[in-house]
Amino acid sequence: MTRPSTLVLALAASFGASGVAGRDEPHVLRRACPDYTSYASTGHAPYSGGPLNLPFQRPAVECRTFASSAVEQVIDDVTSRMVDKDLAQLFRNAFPNTLDTTIRWHTNGSTTSTTSRKNKRDNAQWQGPQTFVVTGDINAEWLRDSTNQLSGYQLLAKKDPALYNLILGAINTQAEFVIQSPYCNAFQPPSPSGIQPTNNGQQDTVHPAYEPSVVFECKYELDSLANFLALATDFYENTGSTEFLTNRWYLALNTLLSVLDAQSAPTFNSKQQYVQNQYTFQRQTTLGTETLSLAGIGNPLNRGTGLIRSAFRPSDDATILGFFIPPNAMMSVQLNKTASILRAVGGQDDLASNLQSRSDKLAQAVREHGIVQHPKYGDVYAFEVDGYGSRILMDDANVPSLLSLPLLGFLDKSDQTYQNTRTMILSAEGNPYYLTGSDFHGIGGPHIGLQNAWPMSLLVQAMTSSSQAEITTSINLVRNSSLLGLVHESINVNNIKDYTRPWFAWANSVFAQTILKVAAENPDIIFGEGAEPYVVS
Ligand SMILES: *[C@@H]1O[C@H](CO)[C@@H](O)[C@H](O)[C@H]1NC(C)=O
Ligand SMILES: *[C@@H]1O[C@H](CO)[C@@H](O)[C@H](O)[C@H]1NC(C)=O
Ligand SMILES: *[C@@H]1O[C@H](CO)[C@@H](O)[C@H](O)[C@H]1NC(C)=O
Repeated sequence: MTRPSTLVLALAASFGASGVAGRDEPHVLRRACPDYTSYASTGHAPYSGGPLNLPFQRPAVECRTFASSAVEQVIDDVTSRMVDKDLAQLFRNAFPNTLDTTIRWHTNGSTTSTTSRKNKRDNAQWQGPQTFVVTGDINAEWLRDSTNQLSGYQLLAKKDPALYNLILGAINTQAEFVIQSPYCNAFQPPSPSGIQPTNNGQQDTVHPAYEPSVVFECKYELDSLANFLALATDFYENTGSTEFLTNRWYLALNTLLSVLDAQSAPTFNSKQQYVQNQYTFQRQTTLGTETLSLAGIGNPLNRGTGLIRSAFRPSDDATILGFFIPPNAMMSVQLNKTASILRAVGGQDDLASNLQSRSDKLAQAVREHGIVQHPKYGDVYAFEVDGYGSRILMDDANVPSLLSLPLLGFLDKSDQTYQNTRTMILSAEGNPYYLTGSDFHGIGGPHIGLQNAWPMSLLVQAMTSSSQAEITTSINLVRNSSLLGLVHESINVNNIKDYTRPWFAWANSVFAQTILKVAAENPDIIFGEGAEPYVVS
């Protein structure tokens, strides 16, 4: 996600007044701590000593928003083995970036559980650990960004109780957001945090209506809901814990399922009569990608596909055709994983079968309607379809994307249709948003425009590649474009120094995950010839 840069400046969070992580009092002012957006816009010592001499970008210890000894251990283990000093500096800054800078509020549950209303407790809001994770330079939490920001720490949650509680809190907080406004993508600080909400500066007309003190922005993106499930399924897979299965989480799940049902409805019923979709969005804007056509409805979608509509993409840009394939694939995987957890726990057999059947049907719909014939590349996955035969062939850097399908768990990277799709979307001829220039190249998207490719796409390219050369080149190009020691949102393909967003936590998490994956699977690339694999556990 991003916002126009003028807005970012207006809304830049005062880092000095941030909530205190690891404590329950939300309001300890740290006036000496600089705003991280401006801190990250210039370099700091100690520099790497490598050819790019990348700067150190971690805030002073007392300014960090959360501390984990397990994370510090991984930083030491990995950077001490890495051969390339610039790449090591980037990992040192990037891996802890979400903990260092974006945990605006965290409570481990000890204050909220003191309530005497015991009988209401199970159904009351904000019970148990809570965690509010901002995206970086905007004082709001995106469901998608926060799941991805935390995903690199899931591997350590079993061993570090602080991280366990942090992620459990994030699941609980996301559940409250989904219950309150399941169509929305970005949220304000929870009321118990005492942190003031901000205004996104837009004039939007949205149905269903939402409460602006809870919601920062209400773009309906199917992947936001898939990411709500992913945060919990990933936690379960890494810790074996089902502590997140509270009444609130089940209520959030049921709320999510009602959205899936409503968004599976076609534009015209079986008598070809128009039926208004439950969700509409209109913004006063000059940007076509920031609002929906047909007075907030979006382009017509046909009956009988089994696909679920998404009004916006993970870039927060509007879809052109609402049956957007990558989040449908992701939702299918996440429903399946949720079903297995419920089966393992027991006592929820009907719900588990319901989720399983939704997952199977959705996977089938993605294959039946998402795979199309291309005259040059053969069978490929379309980015978006409408059920009438129209398709959009492209990919956008933001995950879920077509390039990321193996990482989402939808298919194996050796899948032939995926390989055809990959060849298509990694070429300027096959993907209008594959952008190349004198200094940089990669997949971009409409969000920043036609001269900016996104480092995140190169990281996903590295993580879905079997070629050591492709992995190395992709990682090194990201390194070369991260001259301030952090991974940016997008880079001008003709000027590697021209970037958007100094403080974009999600991209830094993806970089760290890429390095950890390479450390485990291809250690030679970063640790040198003959090095042992390094596996986080
Ligand atoms: C929660 O916080 C309280 C008070 O700071 C502390 O005593 C307790 O050990 C914490 N529990 C966990 C699980 O971190
Ligand atoms: C669901 O998960 C199981 C493993 O638990 C896997 O075998 C199956 O292929 C998955 N199905 C879908 C549709 O993802
Ligand atoms: C990165 O920059 C170095 C010069 O500092 C250059 O030699 C190398 O080719 C670049 N790597 C990539 C992948 O662009």
